[in-house]
Amino acid sequence: MTDSNSIGKRDSLLAMISEEQRNRGFVSEDSIVSLAQTLGISVGEVYGVTTFYAFLSVKPQGKHIVWACKSVPCHLKRSEMVASWIGSQLEITPGQTTPDGRFTFELVNCIGACDRAPAMLIDDVVFGDLTQASVAEILKSFD
Ligand code: FES
Repeated sequence: MTDSNSIGKRDSLLAMISEEQRNRGFVSEDSIVSLAQTLGISVGEVYGVTTFYAFLSVKPQGKHIVWACKSVPCHLKRSEMVASWIGSQLEITPGQTTPDGRFTFELVNCIGACDRAPAMLIDDVVFGDLTQASVAEILKSFD
């Protein structure tokens, strides 16, 4: 049974993890342990929440994060090609960061731009109706 105290802790946990992600760009092991101690919950619970959400990371991220959509509407518009173009352009695979730290590349479920499939998100900007040329141009526009 879930009591209101544990619900409150979980709400606080997500807010605190999100703040850590915003401030440092990722949630470190030390932060996970510290948050667990602060809230009086297990390290496993903090780690579980941190790794559950695609927009949270337990490892350092690049200056820009490229999220390529992998959900069905984009898949039907050949999103695997978008992922391939991004990977070729940045010379990394999903889950990796470029050696210069400029980009982290991730695959993600629907970003709410299905009407513009295939789509990707860079930081908080959505790009749709992607082609090989537009992907290259968009990535070059980020310093
Ligand atoms: S399925 Fe790709 S943006 Fe919705």
